[in-house]
Amino acid sequence: MPLLVSLLPAPTSADVTVVIDVLRFTTSAAFALANGARSVVPCETVDQARAIAGSVTPDRCLLAGERDALKPRGFDLGNSPLEFTPQAVQDRDVAWTTTNGTRAIAVARSGWDRAAPRAASASHAPEQGAGGRSSSRDLILASYVNLKAVAALLEPRLREDAVVAVACSGRDGGFALEDAACAGALVRRLRATLGDALTMDDGARASACIDEAYGEDLARLFRDAQHGRFLRDHGFGADLEACGALDTLPVVPRWRDGRLVAR
Ligand code: MLT
Repeated sequence: MPLLVSLLPAPTSADVTVVIDVLRFTTSAAFALANGARSVVPCETVDQARAIAGSVTPDRCLLAGERDALKPRGFDLGNSPLEFTPQAVQDRDVAWTTTNGTRAIAVARSGWDRAAPRAASASHAPEQGAGGRSSSRDLILASYVNLKAVAALLEPRLREDAVVAVACSGRDGGFALEDAACAGALVRRLRATLGDALTMDDGARASACIDEAYGEDLARLFRDAQHGRFLRDHGFGADLEACGALDTLPVVPRWRDGRLVAR
């Protein structure tokens, strides 16, 4: 039962990839899908998001995201979880671009193009891989708000010996404390149920050490984390509380046909 953790964005060829950007993309995407958004389309650039939103029926697709934590010009929504209310997102698709989180998804998926296709297992719907190949690769988003649901989804996959790779989004190409801590919290929960059968790489062990330092004291984690301090200093203190609402959302954003949908 191999569990791998990359503390920085990385291409992956694992059966299941878990992308984490606690502050704030993967938290906000969970809010959006839990509150009725039809899908989230992660985009690498502002222009790509505008093009996607412009290519579908007007008023169907919202534009969301941030640059330097702020909503880009002409966008409907920023990147704050509190903006993704049912009134704002019900039955809407959301083309979404952020500095690190949506990029980490693209980096992770770039590994799918290089790796050989994997056989689809009977219990999991096939996903289209590179060049239209059929594979059983999954990509999901995790954060503290949906950690319980993510662990519940991963546990049976690990039991059937799927390789699970966690990719932390980091910050501007560097390490982000809150993403590593959240990866470690996931490792802790999976170890609690799967025990020594879980085989971990050094990244998984390192993230578990960081989780041990903070446990569920997420207020302290966000006070220590550079991006937590940045958000507080820029008026997004309420977002930190929303991002620290442990296990409050049952939804797992999951990759399907070029977009993320609620599982
Ligand atoms: C990102 O993807 O870089 C973040 O979600 C930044 C933010 O806090 O808006």
